[in-house]
Amino acid sequence: MLDKIKNKDFYPKGRNIDDDSVLEVKNIISHLPLRRDLLIEYLHLIQDKHKQIRKKYLAALSHIMKIPFAEAYEVASFYAHFDVIDDDAPDIQDVTIRVCDSITCEIFGANKLIKELNQNVDVSKVRVLKAPCMGLCDKAPACEVGHKHVSNANLSKIQNVLESKSLHPEKIIGISIDEYIKTGGYQILNKCYSGELKVEQVVQEIENSGLKGMGGAGFPSGQKWKFVRMEPGPRLMTINGDEGEPGTFKDKLYLEENIHKFFEGMLIAAWAVDAKDIYIYMRDEYPSIRLKMLEEIEHLKSKNILMPETTIHVRRGAGAYICGEESAMIESIEGKRGLPRHKPPFVSKVGLFGLPTLNHNIETVFWVRDILENGSDWFSKQGKKGHKGPHSFSISGRVKNPGVKLAPAGITMDELLNDYCGGMLDGHKFLGYLPGGASGGILPASKANIPLDFGTLDEFGCFIGSGAIVVFSDKDDIKNVALNLLKFFNDESCGQCTPCRVGTEKAVKLIEKDDWDKNTMNDLVKTMGDASICGLGQAAGNPISCVLKYFKEYL
Ligand SMILES: Cc1cc2nc3c(=O)[nH]c(=O)nc-3n(C[C@H](O)[C@H](O)[C@H](O)COP(=O)(O)O)c2cc1C
Ligand code: SF4
Ligand code: FES
Repeated sequence: MLDKIKNKDFYPKGRNIDDDSVLEVKNIISHLPLRRDLLIEYLHLIQDKHKQIRKKYLAALSHIMKIPFAEAYEVASFYAHFDVIDDDAPDIQDVTIRVCDSITCEIFGANKLIKELNQNVDVSKVRVLKAPCMGLCDKAPACEVGHKHVSNANLSKIQNVLESKSLHPEKIIGISIDEYIKTGGYQILNKCYSGELKVEQVVQEIENSGLKGMGGAGFPSGQKWKFVRMEPGPRLMTINGDEGEPGTFKDKLYLEENIHKFFEGMLIAAWAVDAKDIYIYMRDEYPSIRLKMLEEIEHLKSKNILMPETTIHVRRGAGAYICGEESAMIESIEGKRGLPRHKPPFVSKVGLFGLPTLNHNIETVFWVRDILENGSDWFSKQGKKGHKGPHSFSISGRVKNPGVKLAPAGITMDELLNDYCGGMLDGHKFLGYLPGGASGGILPASKANIPLDFGTLDEFGCFIGSGAIVVFSDKDDIKNVALNLLKFFNDESCGQCTPCRVGTEKAVKLIEKDDWDKNTMNDLVKTMGDASICGLGQAAGNPISCVLKYFKEYL
């Protein structure tokens, strides 16, 4: 030990903090309180102002927060939307274009677009990055120029946006708070607050309706409210607005169209479990929605719709799909890397800040007002063939009319395709589909007659998850589809457990080979499924096992 201290190369761990950087960071974060859980918010503020995060600012931030530099660094470097660079590195380009290369955008030419952009934009001023799904799958290919989204993107459209220099998020109009109130909005909430509706009655109605978690797991919502209520207070509520599953864009649509219906459902749910603080985790890929949300929360306050003791906190994701997994989302809200927790304990018992937490997907609470207004039967009877309720399917790919289709639970893919989407695009023959985004497996056209609902696809090695359906045709290469999905999982794996971290990387290499090594692939899929901590690693092998099972003739 002594030798080490005497070593002339020895230096104390840590970094020199320069006063100017400390002052700059203090100024940037001055309007926020100083709290550990706000680390990601501070990082956003630095990134927003400087378009990058130089290590001197990270060091200054860790000094101000009294946390090790390594802790600030590991958080900042975990998230794709933070650019941590050395102090002497050249500035990152002024403009970043993120081109979605998730599956729907890939089949509609994302890779060609990326190539064209790299050849045609001034790369000293503009940076072109690949990015995962940004919720514009029905208008693929999509990209984000600065913070402006471009749908059905092509080179000339993007060049026009660059020339216009208008790179801010587009403004969302939607139904205003006054319009919402005029049509009976917030009356159910008022009945809850005034005691006209009793908690037990409301929870029972939600349970009777058969409403299930629309984030993907399909857990019965009324039961979840009961579990959370059984835990001693104080309790919290979180809203999962991460919507990262490739092919999913329903939450985006509902928030754009009628954000107050979402707020009303959320506030009723929070009231039902007596949660005074509500944390909404909004993905950074939807900047216009986050801004709209902040604006409308101010309207809620000014119209005294919120109970004085209720606080809504809006937290900004930073480009990590895994933060959609609820325990990873909670870690992220706490200002840490989004590493999923081991379960149990479930978040209903030990959630945000260690407190019992009711967590819901945006769409789940979006239905609450309608159910309480029209009755549980109104909701449950919208299913068919014994399935309960409506289901929002985000449909993209080779269909004539893609988009969010509200359809009865239990509908089949054939019915969705022909009755809701106008059939296949001209010149395309139906080959297969993803019933549940990247994670839910791949089914062939011959299995388009299965009722789609939670649990109905288990026997086929698939699930509907968040209802993200991507339709493929004879013009698509199914092995390439599997490759795209596995690359996505490999990029987005949080790296915490070996089967997923190493397995997704190995899977990509195996898929890339012309000759598929089926035995090794099957072993890998099984190990990832059995031994991964969370749903990402557990489901990552689904595309492979489905291609092996249902698309043998293409191998
Ligand atoms: C890898 C992974 C990603 C997920 N992404 C999301 C997401 O983006 N949005 C969401 O609501 N739920 C997502 N979930 C599901 C959540 O963990 C959780 O089940 C959901 O937020 C619960 O709310 P609900 O009951 O209203 O569906 C994801 C799960 C996993 C395993
Ligand atoms: S399965 Fe993958 S994403 Fe999930 S905890 Fe393990 S490494 Fe992270
Ligand atoms: S926006 Fe590209 S796949 Fe969703």
